[in-house]
Amino acid sequence: MRRFWILSFCLLYVLPACTAQKASSRVEKLLKQMTIEEKVGQMTQLNLDVICEGEIYKLVEPHHIQQDKLEKAILNYHVGSILNCGGHAYPLKQWHEIIGSIQKMATTESRLKIPVLYGIDAIHGANYVSGSTLFPQQLAQAATFNPNLTEEGGRITAYETRAAGIPWNFSPVLDVGRNKNWSRFFETFGEDPYVCSVFGSALVRGYQGGNGSVVDDQHVAACMKHFLGYSGTRSGFDRTPAIISAIELREIYRPSFQAAIDAGALTVMINSGEINGIPVHANPEILIDLLRTEMGFKGLAVTDWEDIIKLVKNHRVAADLKEATYRAVMAGIDMCMVPNDYDFTTYLIELVKEGRISEKRLDVSVRRILETKNKLGLFENAMPPGTATFSEFASDKHKAAALRSAEESITLLENHLDILPLRKDAKIFVTGPAANSMTMLNGAWTRTWQGTDAQFDDASKNTIYEALLSKNKNVTFNEVCGLETMNNMNGDPLEMAMNADVIVVCVGELPSTELPGNIYDLELPKAQQEYVKMLKLTGKPVVLVLVENRPRIVREIVDGCSAVVMAYQPGDFGGDALANILFGDVNPSGKLPFTYPKYQVGTSTYDHKYTESFDKNFGNSAFQPQWEFGHGLSYSTVEYSNLSVSCEDEIIVKVNVQNRSYRAAKESVLLFVTDEVASITPAVKKLKAFEKIELAPGEMKEVVLRLNKKDFEFIGADAEPTFEAGFFQITIDQLTQRIELK
Ligand code: BGC
Repeated sequence: MRRFWILSFCLLYVLPACTAQKASSRVEKLLKQMTIEEKVGQMTQLNLDVICEGEIYKLVEPHHIQQDKLEKAILNYHVGSILNCGGHAYPLKQWHEIIGSIQKMATTESRLKIPVLYGIDAIHGANYVSGSTLFPQQLAQAATFNPNLTEEGGRITAYETRAAGIPWNFSPVLDVGRNKNWSRFFETFGEDPYVCSVFGSALVRGYQGGNGSVVDDQHVAACMKHFLGYSGTRSGFDRTPAIISAIELREIYRPSFQAAIDAGALTVMINSGEINGIPVHANPEILIDLLRTEMGFKGLAVTDWEDIIKLVKNHRVAADLKEATYRAVMAGIDMCMVPNDYDFTTYLIELVKEGRISEKRLDVSVRRILETKNKLGLFENAMPPGTATFSEFASDKHKAAALRSAEESITLLENHLDILPLRKDAKIFVTGPAANSMTMLNGAWTRTWQGTDAQFDDASKNTIYEALLSKNKNVTFNEVCGLETMNNMNGDPLEMAMNADVIVVCVGELPSTELPGNIYDLELPKAQQEYVKMLKLTGKPVVLVLVENRPRIVREIVDGCSAVVMAYQPGDFGGDALANILFGDVNPSGKLPFTYPKYQVGTSTYDHKYTESFDKNFGNSAFQPQWEFGHGLSYSTVEYSNLSVSCEDEIIVKVNVQNRSYRAAKESVLLFVTDEVASITPAVKKLKAFEKIELAPGEMKEVVLRLNKKDFEFIGADAEPTFEAGFFQITIDQLTQRIELK
C-alpha cells in the first residue's frame, strides 16, 4: 500500500511536472492565470440537457440552448466539457446552433476564453447527426478481418462528426467480448485480444488522422473505452462485478488498450464497473500504476456517466459524494462526466480549499484537458463550420464505404447443397421480425441511445425485404412472427410460403445496450424458434438470417435450414449488402470474430484451455460451439497448401491459397500459434496474424505472414510477459507446422 501511494504521488505530481515542460506554452500560461474554480470547471463535464430549455430528459422540442443556463455553466461554473445530444439526433444546422452558442460564450465571454471540449458517442458513424453515413457495428466490422475498412470508416465518422462541430468521439470500444451475454457485446470487436488490438488501433488512426500529436479540423480525438475489464463481468449483466486475475487482465484486457495508446489515442473513458471488489473509478492501481506507468498513457481520462455518484449509490465504497469525489480524483480521473448537476464542482472546490487535494493535483488534470483542446486546434477555432464546408458529408463515396464494410462482414455460416446464391428470378418469401426493420439492422446508438425509436429511421435506406425486392420483383413479405410473439395472421402467410421457391426468415433481437440490454436467457426467443420450425415443415428451402446484438442460441432450429447467414447489425446499408450476397453479386467473405455458442452453459472462447476441450471419453465436454471463431464460408472453394515456416530473427510463415472456383473471392487467412507446454496452462491456440486477400477465379497467391518472439510470449506468474523455449505449432486452416524456439 505504501509503495502504491509513493508511486501514485510520483505519477500524479513528479512525472507530469517533467512532461509539463514540454506542454505547450499556451497551456502553461493559462494554468498560471486560472483560479481554483476555473480549474475545477475544466474538470467538469455536463450533459447537454443541463443547458437546454425544459427539464433534464424532458426537453422542449425542438431542443434549444437556454441562455441563462448556458451562462451559469460557462460563466459561473467555468465548465470545460459538454456531452451528448438531448435524446435524439440533430441535423447539422441544429448542431451548429447548439455548438455555436456554447463556443461563442466560452471563447468570447468567459474570462480566459477557453473553448469547450464537446464529446459524443459516434460509435458506428456519426450516429447522432441526422443523415450521416452509418456503418456496421464494431462486432460486424471485426468479421471483415479487413482493418483498412475500419480505418476508412473511422476517417469518415470523424469527418461527419466534425461537420457537426464536434471534436471528440467516445469510441472505440476496446473491451474484449469474452462474455456473450453482455449487453454491449455488439459494441466490441469480438472475443480475441489481437483482433481487438488491430481493429481498435485502426479506428483510432481513422478518427485522429495521424499519431495524435495534432488533430486537424476534419478529424476528432478518439476515446478508448472503457478502461478496463468492463466486458468481463461474471453475469454478463451490465456494470456488475468482474473478478479478473492479474494474468488475465494483462493477457486479455490490456492489449487492445495498449495498441490504441501506441496509435496515439488522446483520451480514455473509465470502466463503470468493479474488478475484484474495487470500482475502477476508485482504483489508482489501475488508473495510475497500470494505465500511466505500465502502459504509458499521457492523455485525458474521463469518468463514465454518473460514476462518481455510483461510488456512493451503487458501489458503496464512499459514504457521500464529497468522499467519492476525493477517491476518484486521487485515483487518477481527470474529468468527471457528472453529468446533470454541479455537485462534483462544489465538492472538489471544497476539497482543495480544505487542503485535502492540492492545487498541483488539479494542474495535472487541467493540463491534460487543455492540451487535448490545444491538439484539436480549438483555441484557434472552436466554432462549427459553415453548413457547406463539409461537402463530402454523406457523399456517395462515404455510402459506398459503409456498404462495402457491411458486405465484407456478413458471414455465411451454412450453405447446404449450394442453396445460395439465389437465382435472380426465384420466388422468395421474406419473413420474421428483422425482415423489414431498419431499427434492427442498425442496433443501439443509432440516432437515439437504444436505437429502437423507428421514427428516427432513415426511410431512404432499404430494409432486407426492400433490398431483395429492388433486385427481384418476385419477393413477397409478411412478418408473421414478431420478436416475442406470433402476429395476427393477415393475408395467408402459409400460402405465401408454399408458393415460394425459397423462404428467407430474418430473426434476431431488438437493439439494446447497457442496462436495458440485460437478458436472462441467451436462447433466441421461443416464438421465433417455433416459427422457424414451422417454416421448415413446409418442405421449402429455408435461409435463416441472424440479425443480433450477441449470438443468441439457435441449436434447435439450424438443423434442416438450407443456409444460415450471420448479418450482425450491419447498419443502414445492411439490407443492400445482404441482398447482394444472397443473390451472388457479392461473394461472402466475413468470418466470425467470436465463438458462436451452442449451449448456454460452458460458452467458451476459441482460445480456451485444454481442460475445456471436448473429450467424449471423460465427459469433459465444455467446448462444443455451434460455429467456431474464424468460421465463415464463401461461394468459392479456397484451398490452402504448402505451409512453410522459417525461423531466423523473424519467424516467416508462408502458405499458398488458391481459389478453386469461377468467381472472384476474398479470403481472410488466419494464423494461430499453439504453445505445446508452458508454466501457465496454455491456450489451445491463439490468433497471432491475419491478412485478407483477393483472389481472381482460379488464382493462387502465396501469403507471407511475419511473427516475432513476442508472439510466442504469455503472461507469466509474475504478471510479466514471459517467453519459454520449447515447441510451438503454427496453424493456418487445416495445415500445421511444428517448430522449436530456443
Ligand atoms: C456509456 C458510455 C458512453 C457514455 C456517454 C455511458 O452510459 O457507458 O459508453 O460513452 O454513456 O454517452
